[in-house]
Amino acid sequence: MKLSERSFGVVAEAFHRVSGIKLVPAKRQLVIGRLQKLATERGLDNLDEYVEQVIKGGDQAELVRVVDRLTTNETYFFREPAHFEFLATLLSRRRPGTEFRVWSAASSSGEEAYSIAMLLADKIGPNGWKIVGTDLSTAMVDAAQKGLYPMERARGTSPAYMKKYCKRGSGPYEGHFLVNKELRANVRFVQANLTQTLPDMGQFDVVFLRNVLIYFEPDAKLDIVKRVSPLIKPGGYLFTGHSESLSSLPTGLTNVSPAIYART
Ligand SMILES: C[S@@+](CC[C@H](N)C(=O)[O-])C[C@H]1O[C@@H](n2cnc3c(N)ncnc32)[C@H](O)[C@@H]1O
Repeated sequence: MKLSERSFGVVAEAFHRVSGIKLVPAKRQLVIGRLQKLATERGLDNLDEYVEQVIKGGDQAELVRVVDRLTTNETYFFREPAHFEFLATLLSRRRPGTEFRVWSAASSSGEEAYSIAMLLADKIGPNGWKIVGTDLSTAMVDAAQKGLYPMERARGTSPAYMKKYCKRGSGPYEGHFLVNKELRANVRFVQANLTQTLPDMGQFDVVFLRNVLIYFEPDAKLDIVKRVSPLIKPGGYLFTGHSESLSSLPTGLTNVSPAIYART
């Protein structure tokens, strides 16, 4: 399918308005690849017509699907393990009796939040901790709430954790695993846009803000970090993806290790 330069501009403008992410002209082919299935489902063989109907026509429900398709949701269990090692040392020093709270901002389909949950359950026990996961994409939030994954996503998860915290699927769920109910009870997911006012979630000991800042220009990146920082407890930490340095930005946070920042 084809997408004219003009229609690409309309999609890029709408996507930027909703997500805060800029789509450069070089992404036109990627946009075509991601949206053609949506056009076909609507009985259209023409992306320009789809853009006309959905975006110019102001179809809000369909626009949510467009945003879901255009966000990059790649994630997996125990991605960037150095953060989990740092978290484990924090847990060994924590004051007992206080609830340990972690926010997985941009949680995608939930693998990051459940990886944290496994570590917290292992080091603290079944209670005394809570995790909130948020993402722009409603489809991702729905998937995360289910906690059901194809087996190959488990790479990076120790066999001991798989045995302790997950259930192997059978019958129609053959080849999948489900995160245990006990673990899911301490993890909740909500839709939230990092470029807008955030929901009232309280403060967190650690915030994972990983592999999402990469999609933003420096100003927008700083704006997100400034919005997220007040939700970190004083003395708490912000983790970013290892390719997402904040060092050139006046965030007010202290870089203590690669991709780890303290709110001092
Ligand atoms: C590549 S995933 C990162 C998942 C996980 N944090 C990780 O490191 O594996 C990026 C996620 O950011 C989300 N995202 C993009 N723009 C966002 C925004 N403005 N607000 C909240 N989430 C956003 C996308 O929907 C996507 O699920």
